[in-house]
Amino acid sequence: MSVVKEVVKSLVGGKETFEVKNHPHHHRLYHLEINNDSLYTFLSENRHVNAQQLEYVPYMRLALSQSLEKILGKRFSETVRAILHDRDSGGFTVGMQYQTEDYDDYIKFATALAHLLGGVNFDAMSGTYYARFTVKDTDESDSYLRQAYRRFTLHTDGTFVNEPTDWLLMMKFAEENAIGGESRLLHLDDWEDLEHYSTHPLATCRIEYKAPSSKNVEQTVYNQTFFEQNGKPCICFIDQFANPSTMEQATYLKDLSESMENSKHTIDLPLPVGDLVMVNNMFWLHGRAAFEKSPDLHRELLRQRGYFAKV
Ligand SMILES: [Fe+2]
Repeated sequence: MSVVKEVVKSLVGGKETFEVKNHPHHHRLYHLEINNDSLYTFLSENRHVNAQQLEYVPYMRLALSQSLEKILGKRFSETVRAILHDRDSGGFTVGMQYQTEDYDDYIKFATALAHLLGGVNFDAMSGTYYARFTVKDTDESDSYLRQAYRRFTLHTDGTFVNEPTDWLLMMKFAEENAIGGESRLLHLDDWEDLEHYSTHPLATCRIEYKAPSSKNVEQTVYNQTFFEQNGKPCICFIDQFANPSTMEQATYLKDLSESMENSKHTIDLPLPVGDLVMVNNMFWLHGRAAFEKSPDLHRELLRQRGYFAKV
């Protein structure tokens, strides 16, 4: 983590608006701790902005991002970008530190942060640039996304859309009567069988991906399971939406998924309400542990996905 370590050193002990810490639950992740005064300044200076305005007026999202950068300093944006591009890390958590419980504040902070990286993808499921979704005791949907009591297998996002999905942000809005349900994460370089599957003859075979109707995406796209970036293997995979055309392809994908699920490096990440996790979607896989049965289970997450600015 050479690039980021330098940043860590230059901040520790200084009077800065934020601090970069090693994450207590994952050796590859960082936790960014923002000075509470700076967080308060950001929220109060943007009190007049509301979530609807951000949906309707795209430039307001960038204005918010500019405000966050002004308050936390350019070094904050540089650090966030450096972490997400760093192959050895590629992820961090950051949060509201119990300074607010207002959902509009959560949306504003996540939006400002996301736009420091580049652009955000349109989320067809919600019809805007982010999605909020609830997991509860009962579910009648057509994918694993809202099914509380089964494990949501490891995958990357953006498999069925024809646009780059370089990063992913997930923020916890609410959690009540919830035991389990942690985000499960696996960094590709920690996976014991990476070499076997990434150099397999079917690794670069184009597989058909189609979304179920709730995603509101009609198109069919074809993805290689593995592709290369900066000389390293990256992955594009989700079990639910892949439509292999031969038995060999099906076996390859099934075995790959099982191998990742069984990796001893797949970890459950606790995430407090008001915190978010942001990861590079090309070399991190994510999923969700099953919740324990509870009739009053309620958990709400926000997700944003996007691409890195080309500079
Ligand atoms: Fe996902």
